[in-house]
Amino acid sequence: MRHPSMFVASLSMSPVSTAWKRLHLLAALAGAALLLAPTPSRADPPIEQVYDVYCAQCHGLKRNGTGVNLPGLSVRPRDHTDTKGMGDTPNEELFKAIKDGGLAVNKSALMPSWGAVLNDQQITEMVKYLRKVCKCGT
Ligand code: HEC
Repeated sequence: MRHPSMFVASLSMSPVSTAWKRLHLLAALAGAALLLAPTPSRADPPIEQVYDVYCAQCHGLKRNGTGVNLPGLSVRPRDHTDTKGMGDTPNEELFKAIKDGGLAVNKSALMPSWGAVLNDQQITEMVKYLRKVCKCGT
């Protein structure tokens, strides 16, 4: 037999308010799922792979500025293996160039901005990686 208070509750609930309650329950469940998911919920791919996907078409799989886009670019993409040239460029500039694009560091607009694709942590990791590629510092 149903408990009297349950009976009262179901009587007072219009179909619309029941639907809303379901929605709220769903939202609460979704929130709980988010809380339970490990953070970050999606593991970031290794930074070399990020380079291969987003940078290599211009900077080259060999990282030396000879990507497949080269013939179409009026400014040569930076050779990231150039120890001297890269060594003369501070980390902050590399970070800014990657995050905000070439124009932000008075270089060519052909170097796109990646701030909407890569988060700051990934860009910091990329700068570190570039230092390994150029064998020019840390
Ligand atoms: C559409 C082609 C293109 C893509 C894609 C591209 N770049 Fe560039 N990048 C350039 C060009 C061209 C330059 C040279 C700009 C100049 O010297 O004026 C450059 C320069 C740079 C520089 C040197 C900035 C400086 O201050 O000297 C860095 C660092 C760099 N790119 C990193 C990256 C990274 C990391 C990615 C991928 C996330 C990437 N680029 C993707 C074209 C590209």
